[in-house]
Amino acid sequence: MAREFTSVGVVGLGTMGAGIVEVFARNGLDVVAVEISEAALERGRANLTGSTDRAVAKGKLAEADRDALLGRVNFQVGLDALHSVDLVIEAVPEHLDLKQRLFAELDRVCKPEAILATNTSSLSVTEISVATTRPDQVIGIHFFNPAPVMKLVEVIRTVVTSAEVVADVEALCARLGKVDVTINDRAGFIANALLFGYLNNAVGMLEARYASREDIDAAMKLGCGLPMGPLALMDLIGLDTAYEILDTMYRRGGRDRRHAPTPLIKQMVTAGLLGRKSGRGFYTYERPGSPKVVPDELTPMATESALADGARAITKVGVVGSGTMATGIIEVFAKAGYEVVSVTRGVEKSAKVCEAVKTSLNKGVVQGKLSEADRDATLGRVTWSATLERLDDVDLVVEAVVEELSVKKALFASLDEICKPGVVLATTTSSLPVIDVAMATHRPANVIGLHFFNPAPIMPLVEIVQTIRTSAETAATARAVCADLGKTGVVCGDRSGFIVNALLFPYLNDAVKMLEASYSTADDIDHAMKLGCGYPVGPFELLDVVGLDVALDIQRELYLELREPGFAPAPLLEHLVTAGYLGRKSGRGFRDHTHR
Ligand SMILES: NC(=O)c1ccc[n+]([C@@H]2O[C@H](COP(=O)([O-])OP(=O)(O)OC[C@H]3O[C@@H](n4cnc5c(N)ncnc54)[C@H](O)[C@@H]3O)[C@@H](O)[C@H]2O)c1
Repeated sequence: MAREFTSVGVVGLGTMGAGIVEVFARNGLDVVAVEISEAALERGRANLTGSTDRAVAKGKLAEADRDALLGRVNFQVGLDALHSVDLVIEAVPEHLDLKQRLFAELDRVCKPEAILATNTSSLSVTEISVATTRPDQVIGIHFFNPAPVMKLVEVIRTVVTSAEVVADVEALCARLGKVDVTINDRAGFIANALLFGYLNNAVGMLEARYASREDIDAAMKLGCGLPMGPLALMDLIGLDTAYEILDTMYRRGGRDRRHAPTPLIKQMVTAGLLGRKSGRGFYTYERPGSPKVVPDELTPMATESALADGARAITKVGVVGSGTMATGIIEVFAKAGYEVVSVTRGVEKSAKVCEAVKTSLNKGVVQGKLSEADRDATLGRVTWSATLERLDDVDLVVEAVVEELSVKKALFASLDEICKPGVVLATTTSSLPVIDVAMATHRPANVIGLHFFNPAPIMPLVEIVQTIRTSAETAATARAVCADLGKTGVVCGDRSGFIVNALLFPYLNDAVKMLEASYSTADDIDHAMKLGCGYPVGPFELLDVVGLDVALDIQRELYLELREPGFAPAPLLEHLVTAGYLGRKSGRGFRDHTHR
């Protein structure tokens, strides 16, 4: 029989603590909510009422239920009020000495059978537990931000946590409507161990001025379907908390440089830019604690007209290639009203591409997204050719041929001879350096990367890759074209993986390493990222879709270019590829797809 919890205590009512109070009180538990001072208690109370008021405003909570919820919370200053609770969860700042002192005190104040839990994200639960005389009753209960919304709870057992306590806490999580994964005490547990390297990497990109905050966040939201971008997420977590988590993970997790906090984070913390809670972090918020972003001096100005921005007028576009990307890109441009010249290597290939574009457009007609007249007009704007010479009068060429540098360089050299002056030459490469392609021409200033995502007609993102030779005019033209296509163009430098792949694949590789180390299962890791961080798919589901061979190639490229030891491909990934387990396309990857 699992133990009955009737009253619980929460210590620290900041970003996490207030949300945890709400979770307990919503589920009928009496909560003693404790802070360090009257002022902090008032802030904690405001955090809670702000959240429940928003829930009422959104129709997610009835007013009477909110009042009952708040009625179950007893706000107090000081730990003495916790003498008779069945469980205490601590959510004070992420400092080991503070937590150890707190636990020693809780051990003294709380009744002997009470469970003492920490919400730490990265500190050792074991080290916290030995500050008490009851380490077998100490456990980690790691909620995710915002606690009332995120379904996941990581339950961390140490080598001394008793099995009954683990079972009691698991039953409590179920009562709270949460999904728990129970794991051992390791820095970052599952989700943060996979999340924080990625977040730190994103801050590094911003610090290096590789891309803007808006573009980094838009890239991850639109390219990967994440609920928020990494910098907005850092603001939600709190930069002070994120700094401590990274610092602890760096020290506990084998001094992986990827966890060494990017210097910018420390500067921002020192300057009081803590994120949402202080009203300003990477973004500026309406007021402290508000989720609403307001414009500040870094917000890009919407230009009245692209031409005023220096962009050239584009009406006729050449698309070179006959694969999936070229086909999608032809459709995108033709639909948006551009005159398109498709060039392939032969008449049969042209016929195939034409057929594929027709099929895709017909699908749109069947789904009611496109009228028959618009389909015909779209097709009428495309001419099909097997000779590059037809590109002599286009304003923009988009190249989407095979991903081989020698082939692309030869093609760009030919384009250089054929195309008129002032043309913009774009490559859709996802992994080759754009500058190599640019230098195959005599006009590198006119060359740029336009990295479309697959399927191009659907995915809203385009990475605009500027080399060190790309002119401002070419970049402005690329931005204007993307906007005109209804896509979000994000501008970045010419570095392996651009924004999306450089942030996504190391995370996927880390998930494989975690599985390889037998820390958790593929199912639990997928669960943790979906339910704890709101990801649309887990890392192993995504790897099986992308293809393990593709993931390995990208990861190898990143490792080779950036020489980051932490980017070395996971041996398990290499073995699976060698064994022919490539994911869905081969019937088996991390999971067996043959019987599904
Ligand atoms: N922020 C997140 O996204 C997140 C997610 C999961 C877990 N966590 C963990 O939760 C814990 C709290 O983080 P946070 O982001 O909520 O921090 P926070 O800074 O927002 O809140 C901490 C609160 O603790 C109070 N406090 C400090 N010393 C205290 C004491 N001795 N007694 C009582 N209250 C005290 C502070 O007044 C403050 O209100 C950390 O261990 C953190 O790693 C954070």
